[in-house]
Amino acid sequence: MNQGDLKAAAAQAAIAHVVEGAPLGVGTGSTADLFIDRLAGLKGRIPGAVASSERSAERLRRLGIPILDLNDVEDLPVYVDGADEVNARLEMIKGGGGALTREKIVAAVARSFVCIADQSKFVSRLGRFPLPLEVIPLARTHVGRELAKLGGMARLREDFTTDNGNLIIDVSGLDMADAAGLEDRLNGIPGVVTVGLFARRGADLLLLAEPSGVKTLRPCGR
Ligand code: 5RP
Repeated sequence: MNQGDLKAAAAQAAIAHVVEGAPLGVGTGSTADLFIDRLAGLKGRIPGAVASSERSAERLRRLGIPILDLNDVEDLPVYVDGADEVNARLEMIKGGGGALTREKIVAAVARSFVCIADQSKFVSRLGRFPLPLEVIPLARTHVGRELAKLGGMARLREDFTTDNGNLIIDVSGLDMADAAGLEDRLNGIPGVVTVGLFARRGADLLLLAEPSGVKTLRPCGR
């Protein structure tokens, strides 16, 4: 089984968590794309979806699934999305696709965050994957300096603008032993719009695809 097969297995497993008759939160990325493709069979059984990116919204539209404005949604039972890294506490690094801000907002509204991932994403310690930060263009250099003070090495994502018109800085080398503390600290840097650490609002459920099957994990120690 290759990584694509495992992503597809996790995406398929998430279909069982969709609440019929209710809006659905849909994330961004290659695993989320595979999940979206599998929603074709549920068309007409959900009123629509809140998408965390223009890219996912477009894919949903092509399937005929209505796109809902989050502001018009009173209750969002489930949000399904991938991750770049996830640990046993179901804290995550997200934003590899640059959609972290809308992902964090939709995740904050959802009652349950279902993370879908292949086994390569499951880590004992977060931090191998560079942490994405969405940053206001004016603050790019300032944020880079502040990250350096924390021991981070910041790299501007080239030729990339977010759906919100901002930049992405990918930072490596930060100590993530206290992921929630680091999330708070980075959130405090002026010019940082969103930190790709999802520790304060981690996932509620992880559907982790391995060659032997898809495991369902709940947060351990949080
Ligand atoms: C996008 C994300 C994605 O969930 C994350 O990058 C995982 O992507 P993929 O499923 O392609 O491995 O956070 O901003």
